[in-house]
Amino acid sequence: MIIYSLPDYQDFEYKIDGKKTHLFILRNRMGMQVAFTDYGARIVSVLVPDKTGDLRDVVLGFNSIHEYLQADEQYHGATVGRFANRIANGCFHLDGKKYTLQQNNGSNCLHGGPTGLHSKVWDRRISFKKKIDFCYVSPDGEEGFPGNLKVTVSYELTEDNEIVIKYKAETDKKTVINLTNHAYFNLDGEGQGDVLSHILHLPSDHFLPIDENQIPLDSEVSVDGTAFDFRSPKKISQDIDKDDVQLKRGNGYDHTFVNQKPISEAAASAYSPNSGIRLEVFTTEPGVHLYTGNFLSEDIGKSDRKYSSRSAFCFETQHYPDSPNHPQFPSVILEPGQVFESETIYKFSVKKQIV
Ligand code: GAL
Repeated sequence: MIIYSLPDYQDFEYKIDGKKTHLFILRNRMGMQVAFTDYGARIVSVLVPDKTGDLRDVVLGFNSIHEYLQADEQYHGATVGRFANRIANGCFHLDGKKYTLQQNNGSNCLHGGPTGLHSKVWDRRISFKKKIDFCYVSPDGEEGFPGNLKVTVSYELTEDNEIVIKYKAETDKKTVINLTNHAYFNLDGEGQGDVLSHILHLPSDHFLPIDENQIPLDSEVSVDGTAFDFRSPKKISQDIDKDDVQLKRGNGYDHTFVNQKPISEAAASAYSPNSGIRLEVFTTEPGVHLYTGNFLSEDIGKSDRKYSSRSAFCFETQHYPDSPNHPQFPSVILEPGQVFESETIYKFSVKKQIV
């Protein structure tokens, strides 16, 4: 039995590239507590009540900055950018000019490159203990992306047990942008084994199949009759080990689902019958990338337990992977004078009966 609590402030006081790092905590009257750090503008802990009223920490992470820096998996809870997910061969063209990025995932550029937004110390401002804004200016050419990009990510904890995430960005040169949050969820609590018995619901009629390098093919495909049909809620375990070329390429689910819902309706949800905790995701983004933690590799987490493969899942709300190389996908171009805006809500509740 794990008794969950928040990490200590002093274990997050450190200096990275000359900038101080910290831990911040938001609380609401429903008993929910959420911890963040300015290192990667990331979510560190999310304590929510389960069906018996006990608090469980439903995101994976570490108890100190030091452990975040040492970990094999770098994206725990982080803000990911300047371009979330993969860009094939680490290159794209804008107005006829070729931009070259670092290849940190085979030949792909993954999550904005090795020193993407997840690895930066962001500036921050807390308002009334309910909202925290993180801000970072990514200089022109950082990780190969054009334009000085000013990015703001604000997290708000509501009295409805929602974490509301709002992204804003502006550039001074035409560029591409795709931001997401990379929280790894386990609704039984981090360190409590795998998530295979979690029940997922994704109302998407289509998903994006991938090639051998995990780059999306050119067109969306119907989920009908495939392992990717979550239109009726089903356990992650139901089809994940099926003999299916798409699941083999992702080593499990590592695919973008086309979000056809407005932000007023859930684009995805997950539920653990064991804890009774449900997570619903609402977003303005055109895609929800479902990743079932297939590549997690035994980092030791907050409760001194191993984070093994499939011990968590991510719902990464975002534009489609590799969009700069697929002109038919929803546009990821940001022009000077435009303001990039995007919103995602992670809402937690307790569900008494099984779906
Ligand atoms: C996910 C991605 C996975 C893996 C992971 C980071 O967003 O879809 O393939 O790269 O990030 O370990």
